[in-house]
Amino acid sequence: MRTIAVLNYKGGVGKTTFTISVAQALAMAGFRVLAIDNDSQHHLSLVVDGNWQRTPCIRDIYRSSVGIAGKKLLDAIIETKLRNFHIIPSHAELSGHDIKDPYILRKVFEYCSLGRFYDYVLIDNSPGIDILQEAALRAADEIFVPTELSFFAVNGIIELHRILNKRFNDCCGITKIVPNAFRGTNRQLEYLEALKALYHEKITETYIPYDTVFDACMKEQKTLFIHKLFSKAAAHYLKLIHELFDLDEKKVWEQVCDVKQNHLRSEARQRFFEQQKKAFQDEPDPDEDKTLAHYLQTQMESGDLPFTGEPED
Ligand SMILES: Nc1ncnc2c1ncn2[C@@H]1O[C@H](COP(=O)(O)OP(=O)(O)OP(=O)(O)O)[C@@H](O)[C@H]1O
Ligand SMILES: [Mg+2]
Repeated sequence: MRTIAVLNYKGGVGKTTFTISVAQALAMAGFRVLAIDNDSQHHLSLVVDGNWQRTPCIRDIYRSSVGIAGKKLLDAIIETKLRNFHIIPSHAELSGHDIKDPYILRKVFEYCSLGRFYDYVLIDNSPGIDILQEAALRAADEIFVPTELSFFAVNGIIELHRILNKRFNDCCGITKIVPNAFRGTNRQLEYLEALKALYHEKITETYIPYDTVFDACMKEQKTLFIHKLFSKAAAHYLKLIHELFDLDEKKVWEQVCDVKQNHLRSEARQRFFEQQKKAFQDEPDPDEDKTLAHYLQTQMESGDLPFTGEPED
């Protein structure tokens, strides 16, 4: 099992979008994936599950001792529309005060032998680096940093790197930095050059393009690789998971296409049944009463009516 913390000092750079997209792509490629929402904004829970007020959630795990937290963790896992993709939701009141032991996630993963159930665990974090993010860092084997290419975003990475070195030099360091919302403007290229000068080998070769499809999918709670597989966004994410996880791009593409087809077929079947059910409820059979009346009449005439209206002795 590989545990990945998705982190950036700066907010709004695409951490949650990255976590959801990578987790869904991996699940569609046949891996068992758990995404943990470690952010009180609970965007991941909202987009993937719709219901973000579930308990137990990550907060209950933090507030328990290891043995109890193990049970809470297993109870907090919920299935999603995609096979092999599970999440642990967050809570609006989640805060650093909930954490008594920053090693709790690591301990509880071991206690539950989570590696038996999952190939990948991705932890989506709120911006900044404090005790909540520390809990994710202590559990993680790697850190992925999605980033925009802007002045504040580049500064955010420098700050993140500095704090990781100063306060968390016993944790894993940054594995990969993923440029996001790339439009190829001169200004973005300048910031890309600046990042390459600082962290050359850590910058991925794949840059996720700017695409409004992300926002549309999030808003409608749709899976990018099912509803917009033939978008620039989906193609780049598939290329990215090939790069990050060393997967065979062609094979992944075929697996994702298969899952998409099956998913759409089962959605269409479901829609058909729902339409039929609704049509039946909206328009009751005009002959139904007659048929029932006719049946009762014949039963009465033949003396076979099971219930005559007379109380039984
Ligand atoms: N490549 C992209 N192109 C266009 N829009 C994007 C892209 N990636 C993310 N977005 C949009 O940018 C916004 C912020 O993304 P997201 O919520 O993933 O960022 P975040 O880093 O998780 O934010 P926060 O720090 O608040 O948790 C969302 O509206 C999302 O749809
Ligand atoms: Mg987020």
